[in-house]
Amino acid sequence: MRLSTAAAVVLLAGSTLLSAGLVASSADDTSADRRGGVAIDSPLRDLAKRVDLKIGTAVDHDAFTNDTTYRERIATEFSSITAENVMKWGLVEPVRGQLDFTAADELVAAARRNNQGIRGHTLVWHNQLPMWLTDGVASGAITPAELRTILRQHIIDEVSHFRGKLYQWDVVNEVIDDNANLRDTIWLQNLGPGYIADAFRWAHQADPHVKLYLNDYNVEAGNPKSDAYFRLAQDLLKQGVPVDGFGAQGHLGVQFGFNTAAQVAANLKRFENLGLETSLTEVDVRMVMPSDTVKLQAQAQGYSVLMQGCLLARRCTSFTVWGYTDKYSWVPGFFTGQGAANLLDENFASKPGYQELQAVLALAGRR
Ligand code: G3I
Repeated sequence: MRLSTAAAVVLLAGSTLLSAGLVASSADDTSADRRGGVAIDSPLRDLAKRVDLKIGTAVDHDAFTNDTTYRERIATEFSSITAENVMKWGLVEPVRGQLDFTAADELVAAARRNNQGIRGHTLVWHNQLPMWLTDGVASGAITPAELRTILRQHIIDEVSHFRGKLYQWDVVNEVIDDNANLRDTIWLQNLGPGYIADAFRWAHQADPHVKLYLNDYNVEAGNPKSDAYFRLAQDLLKQGVPVDGFGAQGHLGVQFGFNTAAQVAANLKRFENLGLETSLTEVDVRMVMPSDTVKLQAQAQGYSVLMQGCLLARRCTSFTVWGYTDKYSWVPGFFTGQGAANLLDENFASKPGYQELQAVLALAGRR
């Protein structure tokens, strides 16, 4: 189900009112039941189901193993999961030729028990590669021809291992740089630009049904980098390469301001017009610490514009947050002095961003 223009206007206006604290939010909203049986304070997965959207989170495998609250909340709140790290090459093949899918398999099994979809992340990236691979390329022990064979084998092995269990795979991650050129990586340097098409072809060969994605950050709205992706997607499709989707990660920061929902929707729609589906794949909204009420409300707006953009597009199929609690987040380790990027705080209490997503989803679900 997608929004009519009128519903979209209601949605935009409603979410603004909610951000400003002008409408009642949750517990007293019995009228929600009259909107089709899902109360506005329902878990996100129940609200998202009514608009045909998978709502996901990245999962930290260590936290999943050791923290019962963390694990249980994933099951109730989300209809999709992405392994935050444990499907990455460096973690599944730390020793050459010895594949270890133990941790990833645990997440996949739990997701299947919880009736959740699984996004695969990620097959070709320039980070978190096995040391034997990067060292081998650097020393010349691995030649370009051998590297191509190794990449092919990696993609075939991993996609085959999860065949039939995942609904989307991030095939290539962050292959365009911040100047909108193909990123200068060991892949481009040794294999030339054709590695991107090859990666999609090999993945398709190993699982013809999973949706195969391009994925990157700072491509939520129109800009030189998303324009470069648009040209890349056009080019790949023209060659008959099996690309199915365009993933905008959605790592935002309160201090930078946000695009509008309409700008996000317009960008996603141009990819959809090529025949692709789209997804928001790694949403979080960080801030300079300490957090305060104003920053948390701005953060809610950041989450809101991405969700609204997704709902206003026609084939935006999943919306995944990159972690859902500030208790476990990659942000403070990567951006000194920043944090509080997630929907729930360190004690699993919901923040304005969470309530905003509930409201936007509830509004989108009105008939
Ligand atoms: O596993 C080791 C552990 O043994 C060691 O004790 C510890 C000490 O630092 O490091 C652990 O590895 C860390 C790993 O996360 C698992 O926690 C790495 O140092 C750390 O660099 C790694 O960070 C991940 C990052 O990707 C790597 O670039 C983040 O968790 C993960 O959230 C982040 O995710 C990326 C997406 O894949 C792609 N888009 C951007 C996004 C955010 O950077």
